[in-house]
Amino acid sequence: MMISVDIGEAGFRPAARIASVGVSKILQIGAKAAAMKREGFPVIILGAGEPNFDTPDHIKQAAKAAIDAGETKYTALDGSPALKQAACAKFKRENGIDYAIDEVTAGAGAKQILFNAFMATIDPGDEVIIPTPCWTSYSDIVEVCGGTSVLVPCDAAAGFRLQAEQLENAITPRTRWVLLNSPSNPSGAAYSAADYQPLIDVLLRHPHIWLMVDDMYEHIVYDGFEFVTPVALEPRLKERALTVNGVSKAYAMTGWRIGYAGGPKALIKAMAVIQSQATSCPCSISQAAAIAALNGPQEFLKDRQASFKRRRDLVVGRLNAIPGLECRTPEGAFYTFSSCAGILNKVTPNGKTIATDADFTDYLLEDAQVAVVPGSAFGLSPFFRISYATSEEELVEALNRIERACAALKGSILPP
Ligand SMILES: Cc1ncc(COP(=O)(O)O)c(C=O)c1O
Repeated sequence: MMISVDIGEAGFRPAARIASVGVSKILQIGAKAAAMKREGFPVIILGAGEPNFDTPDHIKQAAKAAIDAGETKYTALDGSPALKQAACAKFKRENGIDYAIDEVTAGAGAKQILFNAFMATIDPGDEVIIPTPCWTSYSDIVEVCGGTSVLVPCDAAAGFRLQAEQLENAITPRTRWVLLNSPSNPSGAAYSAADYQPLIDVLLRHPHIWLMVDDMYEHIVYDGFEFVTPVALEPRLKERALTVNGVSKAYAMTGWRIGYAGGPKALIKAMAVIQSQATSCPCSISQAAAIAALNGPQEFLKDRQASFKRRRDLVVGRLNAIPGLECRTPEGAFYTFSSCAGILNKVTPNGKTIATDADFTDYLLEDAQVAVVPGSAFGLSPFFRISYATSEEELVEALNRIERACAALKGSILPP
């Protein structure tokens, strides 16, 4: 899924644990698009995984107040008591889960939480089942931690959701974790209670397996979709599940770097050991901001959701009107994950055959100056991801360009 680390420089020898890991394809495309922009090309970047809203004022004010009050020192290792209390209250209020204060942890983003959890639990050869398409970091973190990711492709017909039979078939005696993400980056697909139940039934039959759920996009769901998280559905899972969340996406706080999770005390303690030797506590000022986010008003989330929904409908509608593309309507997050199967084998005006989804996204970047990410970067082809967390004007212009670029392709020169 990733581009390997550059080992060309004389004298530099990377550790074996990063041999298959590197800078993500998303970042690589972003860098190329940014370079093109600097050269004067009017590139539209639909690759970023962050809302284009600003962090709300009451959250910024809380951070400023924390600075003025001298909250500028180390805090408790895996989150101040106030942040942990805010996380407990959130889990209770929004998910109906009772986590005690020593059952929650906070780190520098959900990414660090995932890293801490895998680092604290995975031994060489341990397996983590990850349905694809998935956020690129999952399998890389598992590999860095010495584990083996078992990627299970979930196609569009199944709503990009893992099915019970697939889970059952992927389980081995070495399976340590199953990692689920709802709503998903990159597909936007979400699991309802009915979607989760068969998976929970499988997990109950395999008590050696732990469940990690990434609920990062919980607050970005559409059309009345009812968000649920597995531990709320099946309390027996609580003793072997980590429920991960964060403030990055819901509160437009990607730069503040605060994520948190609830899980069994022993796991939370082990995760703190990892964090203690990596970053110590998350930034004290960001913790104050996250407390304001979690404890403060939540009504504005609905307005932001409505704005994302307008953009989702715009993007899905326009993509489905382009011959060769097919886009499932996502339940949540701010991504579309469209099939470009109907584009494969077509030929660009420069005479290049589009053989893969990466060829298609290269073509869109080079000829239409629109940066999107190929499905191969997320473990499922032939698809491409659009992040619609940008202005409607930019989206309309980008879709006009994609439409023109697809229309400019010549028919297949290969037999169908
Ligand atoms: C599914 C998912 N989980 C976690 C994260 C990381 O979030 P954070 O900013 O809290 O590290 C991302 C970021 O793109 C994501 O898409």
